[in-house]
Amino acid sequence: MKEIKSSDYSVWIGDHSFSKLNISAYSKIAILVDENTKRYCFPKLQKLENSIVIEIKSGEEYKNINTCNFIWEQLTEHNFDRNSLLINLGGGVIGDMGGLCASTYKRGIDFVQIPTTLLSMVDASSGGKVGINFNQFKNHIGLFNNPKAVFISIDFLESLPENQLKSGFAEVVKHALISDNSLWKRLLSIPFVDLDWEDIIETSVHIKNKIFSADPFEKGERKKLNFGHTFGHAIESYYLEKGTPILHGEAVFMGMILETEISHLSETDKNEIKNYILSNFALPYTPKKYNLHKFLINDKKNQSGKINFSLLNKIGNCTIDNLFSTDEL
Ligand code: GLY
Repeated sequence: MKEIKSSDYSVWIGDHSFSKLNISAYSKIAILVDENTKRYCFPKLQKLENSIVIEIKSGEEYKNINTCNFIWEQLTEHNFDRNSLLINLGGGVIGDMGGLCASTYKRGIDFVQIPTTLLSMVDASSGGKVGINFNQFKNHIGLFNNPKAVFISIDFLESLPENQLKSGFAEVVKHALISDNSLWKRLLSIPFVDLDWEDIIETSVHIKNKIFSADPFEKGERKKLNFGHTFGHAIESYYLEKGTPILHGEAVFMGMILETEISHLSETDKNEIKNYILSNFALPYTPKKYNLHKFLINDKKNQSGKINFSLLNKIGNCTIDNLFSTDEL
């Protein structure tokens, strides 16, 4: 098993056994699943004594305070004390919401992330951001709190639909573009279907780990991880409001194309990025920019009424706090 050390926990890649965790030290353990991870992933987990399963419905629309209430009720009804553990077995919704529930239950119990989607393996499961949506605002309520450990196993990718795999890959592409030109060259030279997932995930987790470790609370450096996400979140909200939600990664791919256009890059680099994304991934229609303005002006990163972008200044390098008014876009 490979270990990537973060501030006060480790990401373990290659296994989902709990050998690196002192599991017997916990009085009780709950495993948070949805109907998909219960069916496809839970059977692959080591059986744990003294554990219960808490099942919630899958989907972004359940990432809210009502589902948190249910999780807290389950922990309470089963007399979970402060020395308990919550294992989040799932994608970003389970990890973020389980993380928030664990961080607040009786002022905080330990939690472990076992990401089962590519998106959560390379992004959501590490970095300590936990939270839920509030009304139409994504991740509006939350906090920074690190898991006890993250266990990544590519076994779980076997049951992941291809569109979800491609969606998660948007974050890998982002990591290459903002911080690692050699990863970018690797992505260009190897067809998507031939990628070595364990290797790609390890490189990607390393990049994210390096960035957020330098700035855990997103005051500076960590903002680089927002490349593609300012337009991306606006596009996601646009489709959500229309009643035809799209995948996060699809929105991020479109966001990266729009943010590449306003980045300080040569035309050759801009075309290389756009061609790579458009030739590998079938994306929904990109909304007109004026239809995105109302979402952009509500972005939580805005400063003094201006929209805040993290943009590329070359492939493998990113600058933060590029401010634009909607008229300038
Ligand atoms: N997903 C971006 C971050 O963790 O900061």
